[in-house]
Amino acid sequence: MQADRPPVPEEIAELTDPGNREDPYPCLDKLRERSPYRPLPGLVVLGRHAQCSAALRDPAMSAARDRANLSPTPRGPRTRNFLHLDPPEHTRYRRLVVGAFARRKVDSLAPRIHEIATDLFQSAADSGTLEVVDDLAYPLPLRVICELLGVPFEDRRLLQDWSAALSETLDPPLGQTAARVTTEAARARARFVGYFQKLIKERRNAPRDDLISHLTQVEENGQRLDDNDIVVTCVLLLNAGHETTVNLIGNAVLALLRHPEQFDRLRADPALAPAVVEEVLRYDAPVQMTTRVAREHGRVGDTEVHPGDTVLFLLGAANRDPEVYPDPGRFDIGRSPAASHLSFSAGTHFCLGAGLARLEVAIALELFSTLLVQPRLRPGGLTYKRNLNLRGPERLLIDVDGVR
Ligand code: HEM
Repeated sequence: MQADRPPVPEEIAELTDPGNREDPYPCLDKLRERSPYRPLPGLVVLGRHAQCSAALRDPAMSAARDRANLSPTPRGPRTRNFLHLDPPEHTRYRRLVVGAFARRKVDSLAPRIHEIATDLFQSAADSGTLEVVDDLAYPLPLRVICELLGVPFEDRRLLQDWSAALSETLDPPLGQTAARVTTEAARARARFVGYFQKLIKERRNAPRDDLISHLTQVEENGQRLDDNDIVVTCVLLLNAGHETTVNLIGNAVLALLRHPEQFDRLRADPALAPAVVEEVLRYDAPVQMTTRVAREHGRVGDTEVHPGDTVLFLLGAANRDPEVYPDPGRFDIGRSPAASHLSFSAGTHFCLGAGLARLEVAIALELFSTLLVQPRLRPGGLTYKRNLNLRGPERLLIDVDGVR
């Protein structure tokens, strides 16, 4: 934040306060009530479902976030991945990888996901304890996306550290971004670039059946992608492919353990796992917010939006809008239709990996409900990540009486 910016209003300070990570929802409720809301010059906050849903689909809202008046650091087109691009460039890059996440392709991964998840449950729960984040929620989606891309899973620790450093930069520009966060992210980005450049070189010489090889070979108008294009796309897929899903798994296990009657419904009918996934996405969104930058003058309700304004979408608040969801703070896996939630965003940037994430987490929850004997939350076993945007447990310790 620049030194001459006016002080952050109380509601925003409350949202960013690390002390509220466990339960940000009372604060999000207040912000939704005020939406559309301009807490600072250059910032418009949206928290109502209808407003978010319409504005996310509005082409006047640009994804080039570094063009915002509030942005401290312009990134430049060469370091932007397609999450930060607008059509037509966005369409061009997204199209190159969309096939890998098509319904049929994703469905064909189910047996492998099942196998990975079963192994993880078995090896961890044999000991009587499962640290859900490290034993299951990280390795499952990370292994799946590594296999899709063609990245060696043995490098897991390095990739996890670099990804964690980058994910902290996804918090919206609401408070002072610590110099530590920016420096660590720049370092992590440089390491990712070096790491992927080496893999790309290897695959150019000896292609395999993986996404990196595919990206080295695709041609557009007779031209191949350069290394930079491939690197930024790989970093996006690797990070988006696990930093979010880990939180969905953590949030889901926690919601089930805290609502035993809902957990019993799942145990009685494991085919309800996809419904549980949708309700957790709504009830406790793993990606709490996203931003756009207004290109032109416009209006949301009675609030004017100016070119260069950052528009902050509180997805977690929209998912609890009482106009759409009766008794929104109640976790109810029988809700219909929970799938109208905005946890995967909406419009052009709708999550490319939504089908994959839904499948991975449904399989994990089905196994969670059938394999583990008497899982229960260890008192004091829950801590939250410090991230505001990517919301989920950092540590979630459960005790079990064995594995079936
Ligand atoms: C985009 C959420 C899993 C890949 C997004 C966006 C959200 C999101 C909210 C859009 C952000 C915006 O509109 O500004 C989630 C959640 C996930 C998840 C909650 C898990 C629970 C995945 C997975 C992949 C993935 C498994 C696999 C590769 C992407 C990509 C984009 C994206 C590539 C950019 C799409 C674009 O700009 O066109 N995701 N995601 N995501 N997600 Fe996911």
